[in-house]
Amino acid sequence: MTDHIRELIQLAIDNIKYSYAPYSEFNVSAVLETATGELYTGVNIENAAYSPTNCAERTAVFKAVSEGHRNFSRIVILGGSKSNIIDFVTPCGVCRQVLVEFTNPEEFEIILAKSVDEYKIMKLSELLPYSFGPSDLE
Ligand code: THU
Repeated sequence: MTDHIRELIQLAIDNIKYSYAPYSEFNVSAVLETATGELYTGVNIENAAYSPTNCAERTAVFKAVSEGHRNFSRIVILGGSKSNIIDFVTPCGVCRQVLVEFTNPEEFEIILAKSVDEYKIMKLSELLPYSFGPSDLE
């Protein structure tokens, strides 16, 4: 599993060059793994009107959902100011809520990475406890 996580982190590092963040200059890259092992990448995409900005995590989730995937097992997130990965980047509140929609928060892994050797794995339920999700509407 360690080698697998290192591969996911390396893919996120390779893709950070696609981040479009001319306003904040804060580049973020994410790699989402589906429950069946497919990988979807995402970067943040900013906009001159600011509010249409899409985070890296949601880019990856929306790419995957739009191709038929609705169950995910983990996501790698990394980034930093001017692509300088010096600290862990945690998902914003909106992205945490979007992830709750398509995951089991007790099992879904959020891998916060600084490099292929330095990362920490958190459960979505730790980052968004007492979340409101699809099962609350059943
Ligand atoms: N951003 C992400 O893409 N993901 C996060 O987890 C945190 C923030 C983006 C949004 C915006 O383009 C930039 O980082 C600064 O907030």
